[in-house]
Amino acid sequence: MAGGGVSSDTVEVPSGPIKPIVYVVAFAAATAGLLFGLDVGVISGAQKFLQAEYEAQGFLVTDQVLEYIVSALLFGATFGAVCCGWISSTLGRKRTLMLSAVIFTLGSVGCAMAPSPNVLIGMRFFLGLAVGIASFVAPLYLSEVAPQRLRGAMVSMYQLMITIGILIAFVSDPYFAEYAVIGGKEGGHWRWMLGILVVPATAMGLAILTLPRSPRWLLLNGKEEEAREVLGRIRSLPEEIDGEVNAIKEDMKVPQNGFSLFTQNPNFRRAVYLGVGLQIIQQLTGINVIMYYAPRILETAGFASSEEQLWGTVVLGLVNVLSTFIAIAFVDRWGRKPIMYAGFVTMGLSMAAVGMAFRMEDASYLAVGGLIVFLVGFAMSAGPIVWILCSEIYPLNGRDFGITVSTATNWIVNGIVGVTFLKLLNGLGPSNTFFLYGGLEVLFFIFFVLFVPETKGVSLEKISANLLSGKPLKEIGWVKE
Ligand code: BGC
Repeated sequence: MAGGGVSSDTVEVPSGPIKPIVYVVAFAAATAGLLFGLDVGVISGAQKFLQAEYEAQGFLVTDQVLEYIVSALLFGATFGAVCCGWISSTLGRKRTLMLSAVIFTLGSVGCAMAPSPNVLIGMRFFLGLAVGIASFVAPLYLSEVAPQRLRGAMVSMYQLMITIGILIAFVSDPYFAEYAVIGGKEGGHWRWMLGILVVPATAMGLAILTLPRSPRWLLLNGKEEEAREVLGRIRSLPEEIDGEVNAIKEDMKVPQNGFSLFTQNPNFRRAVYLGVGLQIIQQLTGINVIMYYAPRILETAGFASSEEQLWGTVVLGLVNVLSTFIAIAFVDRWGRKPIMYAGFVTMGLSMAAVGMAFRMEDASYLAVGGLIVFLVGFAMSAGPIVWILCSEIYPLNGRDFGITVSTATNWIVNGIVGVTFLKLLNGLGPSNTFFLYGGLEVLFFIFFVLFVPETKGVSLEKISANLLSGKPLKEIGWVKE
């Protein structure tokens, strides 16, 4: 037995019929994803209006100031994710979700009312804290309350909500930008774009009030009775409850936790590196190049009018939402890895097609087709599955720490992709930029073949026991020896 000192023969937990309340819980917790998506998607359409308004008031709003306004949210999210490990292990998952709902609400009001660009930057950072916290704790919570055979689908619900949030932002931005008549003025209502998010943020807070606490966190904090009570609400068989409690207790026998587990346990360290690798891969697929710069790419591809660019962007947002259902339907049936392979092939070929398009006379239709196919590939695979895997691969004692590190990585690389895209476009040209992203998908495919476990239908505790017993990463989802 290697480094971790734990045997891998955890008892597998029996599973009974799924109670309907499980779906309600999944939906309520996943609303955190909606806010994540809304806040990420909303700022692109607000920029030129806030710039005009502040400049009319005598503030200087250069491109750099705009960049700060956009990226303050990413910095806040990174910071939120970093602090969140500690917050969620201290306060518990449910209260941490609540904290993010409160920050979402206050931050939305703050952004909408910001009297100067600097205050807006500060408020976007504050809002980012909520995004970082939500992106940390929602998948974690979902994976901890989900019945094991539905875990993939439940964490995918969170990704679905992110995509719906982004789509709503893509649609509501133009509405407030062009059509809405408020106070006798038609269009240009950037404060409303940002402020309207108070509504979903408050709804999220109310939805969270109805959630049970995570049974795993409760047991970790010595509250067995409450943990059993929660499991009684969300599981249907008494054997399931006993089985799950026993497996969690077994998982808690690991002597260290958090950072000390990282420094002292090489087996746990491997899982942290895997989580970091997975999140780097998710961001380097290039998804946010499309999310942040879709209108610009469409313009480069030959769609000149802003109306075409706008509708094109909405179509892309819609494809992103719809394709996430492929993952929800199949991730617990086919498994994570086959879907990821299909996703990488789809993403690689479509990025190459976009690259080709930019070498042709008329790039427009091939480019748009390529972007659509890319989004199908991402939304059915790396979008949800990376969040799923990162919520599954850590033992309970190191889960907060592990997810902190991987989620913070997601935000950091997200920021890097965001700030480098236009430079790549100008430096390498559009065609080579997309070939570069396409080439990366090949490397990611190989990474998955070599290092990534299949975790479909296996309990979190079994995965943890396998990891700590020293099994190769690729095999930590195996049920049998
Ligand atoms: C990613 C985000 C991305 C979104 C797009 C998420 O899984 O983490 O960076 O913007 O998917 O749908």
